[in-house]
Amino acid sequence: MSHRGFFICLEGIDGCGKTTQARMLVNSLNKMGYRAIYTAEPSRGKIGSFIKRYCLHRDKRISSIVEALLFAADRVEHLDDEVIPAIMEGKVVVSDRYLFSSLAYQGAAGLDINWIRKINEYAIKPDLAIFIDVDPEVAIKRLKTIKSVMENLENEIKVREIYLKLVESGDLIRVDGNRSKREVAKEILHLTLSALKKIK
Ligand SMILES: Nc1ncnc2c1ncn2[C@@H]1O[C@H](COP(=O)(O)OP(=O)(O)OP(=O)(O)O)[C@@H](O)[C@H]1O
Ligand SMILES: [Mg+2]
Repeated sequence: MSHRGFFICLEGIDGCGKTTQARMLVNSLNKMGYRAIYTAEPSRGKIGSFIKRYCLHRDKRISSIVEALLFAADRVEHLDDEVIPAIMEGKVVVSDRYLFSSLAYQGAAGLDINWIRKINEYAIKPDLAIFIDVDPEVAIKRLKTIKSVMENLENEIKVREIYLKLVESGDLIRVDGNRSKREVAKEILHLTLSALKKIK
């Protein structure tokens, strides 16, 4: 068992299975004796709740610059209030979305990726960052309702392209998400256990 905490994030387009996989991973790790917790961005803090209300569920998208700044601010609170305290207690923190969602979504909206990185420079580097890659048409079909204005096929294709660039640059590890939940979960657990072994 590790003596320090561990920070994992799961990334990918809407409907790729992030929430499903994050919950499955937390359950598997807890069964194995790790102390794992689920968390997500936007966070459940004040700024996160504001983002859900103000940015995601409306007909028209707000300025992508405002969006990027709000997500960056929420991220600082999420780290300070939830992620870092849990890591300090030796827990494994599994975050459903993180920094790379900002790079991919606000990048797809046309913002300079380097500027998005800049405003997120206080966001700590995760120990493991996984991109669950699913064909955008499949992902959209998995979502029963179109929940947010960010979810449309053309946009998801652009978002996926940026995620794939982040795989090339070594920021993210790609996992093929076009398989059954169990198969995807098995690979994510394997990657996690290998990474956990390295820090022991
Ligand atoms: N590997 C899979 N095969 C088939 N269906 C799946 C798979 N993984 C998840 N699903 C289903 O697809 C839907 C979307 O999954 P989930 O909510 O986990 O995606 P998400 O990435 O968290 O989406 P969002 O970005 O909208 O939060 C759910 O109904 C889930 O049960
Ligand atoms: Mg989800």
